[in-house]
Amino acid sequence: MHEHHTPLDLVRERSPERPVALARPDAVATAARWFQDKFKGDVFYAVKANPSPWVIETLAANGVTSFDVASIPEIELVAAHAPGARMAFMHPVKSRAAISRAYREFGVKTFALDTHEELAKILEATGGARDLTLVVRLAVSAEGAAYTLSGKFGADTHEAPALLLAARRATEGRLGVSFHVGSQCMRPTAFQAAMAQASRAIVRAGVMVDIVDVGGGFPSVYPGMLPPDLGDYIDSIDRGFAEMVVHEETELWCEPGRALVAEASSILVKVELKKGDALYLNDGSYGSLFDAAHTKWPFPVKLYRGAETADDGEALEVEGALKPFRFYGPTCDSIDHMPGPFWLPEDVREGDYIEIGMLGAYGMAMNTRFNGFGDAETVVVSDAPMASMFGLAGRTIRLPREAAAEEERKVVRLSRPKGAAGKKRRRR
Ligand SMILES: Cc1ncc(COP(=O)(O)O)c(C=O)c1O
Repeated sequence: MHEHHTPLDLVRERSPERPVALARPDAVATAARWFQDKFKGDVFYAVKANPSPWVIETLAANGVTSFDVASIPEIELVAAHAPGARMAFMHPVKSRAAISRAYREFGVKTFALDTHEELAKILEATGGARDLTLVVRLAVSAEGAAYTLSGKFGADTHEAPALLLAARRATEGRLGVSFHVGSQCMRPTAFQAAMAQASRAIVRAGVMVDIVDVGGGFPSVYPGMLPPDLGDYIDSIDRGFAEMVVHEETELWCEPGRALVAEASSILVKVELKKGDALYLNDGSYGSLFDAAHTKWPFPVKLYRGAETADDGEALEVEGALKPFRFYGPTCDSIDHMPGPFWLPEDVREGDYIEIGMLGAYGMAMNTRFNGFGDAETVVVSDAPMASMFGLAGRTIRLPREAAAEEERKVVRLSRPKGAAGKKRRRR
């Protein structure tokens, strides 16, 4: 991968024609060390959040050597870039072929499930293995999360006890319980509440669990969303664990995706056309900007101008009076629209470059090749991210006063898109 000190250096030296994913491995390393240090258990990185090889390698080099995988390609990726890493196959619905290959070829022994049917499938596909770690995924309340993840997966309160008991009987290995409080969870106490719910299910089942996996959901900073300190989430988990009916050796696991990688990547795009308040870019909702289009997250932006378009022939970061803009992506589809508002200097022009920040989680990961676009190169930069939960930058994203009021208003209406496009492309 090429390296440049800052995105401006990249613009100055390369004037890139294609979108560029800006990788900040130092931000991944910092987040990895924070979780290793503060979380009192095992940290599994949820690969789906950002499956870039540099992310896997940086995590492994900084002590995160356990991975939550959801498919065979994710398993292959981890095996290639973090040899010897421990993997847990946490997708509650897997094909028999995938279970079998994961177990036989890659030595994966930990499998999630949320139905009796999936339990039977896992046992059959592993040839009746008795050494499995079986993790029963529970549906829990996702109040306070930007993305609810319980609608699709998780055994409910009534089903959970019988399933826990069946899983306990099915293995001589370990039994675990897991849940997901929803992604970008803004309420630390959601973890403690979910753990109380899990504890009730365990007691009703009359089993002891060996693992309590609190899933992901740890938040990052986006405009209009200032999460509580991550330490508050750890405190809530510690309280929840202390109150659970578990044995002395029961292990605590977590599966963060977003919080480990959100700050570590942004995308540098080129303005192909300006039409009023609409900027037509060379990346969009079929590329890294799925959330900007479908959940209308107004990601933070910076403007750079290359030597060719600068008035005095010197590349620069453009500052000055800001105006709200919206973006269109490069495809022919009119839903390839990111309403923002994105606050940029009003004289933004064709040929300028925009860095769109905080896209390390579920940004590049969602990239498609629709319409011949989506071919982004990755370049390493070493400047700070636009915001940080780990002290690498401010914890808020500064906006003009009128924008701040607008973003505040939005905080209360965060929800998943109901449209077909949202359902089709979001796989979590
Ligand atoms: C099973 C599981 N674990 C962990 C995660 C990561 O969640 P987050 O990115 O919110 O931390 C997800 C996300 O969808 C998931 O489905």
